[in-house]
Amino acid sequence: MSIHIGAEKGQIAEKVLLAGDPLRARAIAERFLEDVFEYNSIRGMYGYTGSYMGKKVSVQGSGMGIPSISIYAHELINEYDVKTLIRVGTCGSLQENVKIKDIVIAMGACTDSAINHHRFGGMDYAPLADYQLLTKAVDLAKLARLRSHVGNILSSDQFYHHDAENWKTWADYGVLAVEMESSALYTLAAHFGVKALTILTVSDHLITKEFASAEERQGSFMDMARIALDLDL
Ligand code: HPA
Repeated sequence: MSIHIGAEKGQIAEKVLLAGDPLRARAIAERFLEDVFEYNSIRGMYGYTGSYMGKKVSVQGSGMGIPSISIYAHELINEYDVKTLIRVGTCGSLQENVKIKDIVIAMGACTDSAINHHRFGGMDYAPLADYQLLTKAVDLAKLARLRSHVGNILSSDQFYHHDAENWKTWADYGVLAVEMESSALYTLAAHFGVKALTILTVSDHLITKEFASAEERQGSFMDMARIALDLDL
């Protein structure tokens, strides 16, 4: 057992999908995994292990924001020997051509968080996805005929930004979408020598102000979860 995860050693697979919403982690486990058991319910941050196409895989809730995902990623890697972490989440689009329900595969993650600034003594680190996972995910999205985009995202500390126009600077530099976790996931994966990738579906659009309906969110979320599960098979 680690501080925030109630599993025994060996109960978590080497490959873990991370969903911000723990109920989404549960929904993925119920929909796709066989022989599932719940290894964590501490803080309601559910974690499940089961088998997908005969391979052991886990799905863990990771919460909202960089501090929360950092705790789960750190413990999964260092206490449970997890080697591959795939975040499946939602994002807000910053570009006209990145539409509601589209998939964004994050090659890199910018951030407005101060954590890496402290970590690197005021210098800027460029957190990147694992290249093999990235290219495989791109291929799988194409095979599944899903509209997908590959590029840079923003991991912001703020959902409700005090400057409502702030995202435009990132958009001007080609950043595709905003979420709140991946720069930490990529940084920790690099630090501890494991693989990480973030795959997102667009749930809202900062230019058009559209939102995906609950059914649209559910459908594209499961399409994305399948890509994450099929990775590395
Ligand atoms: N901002 C930040 N995180 C998000 C958003 C957003 O608009 N949509 C989904 N996650």
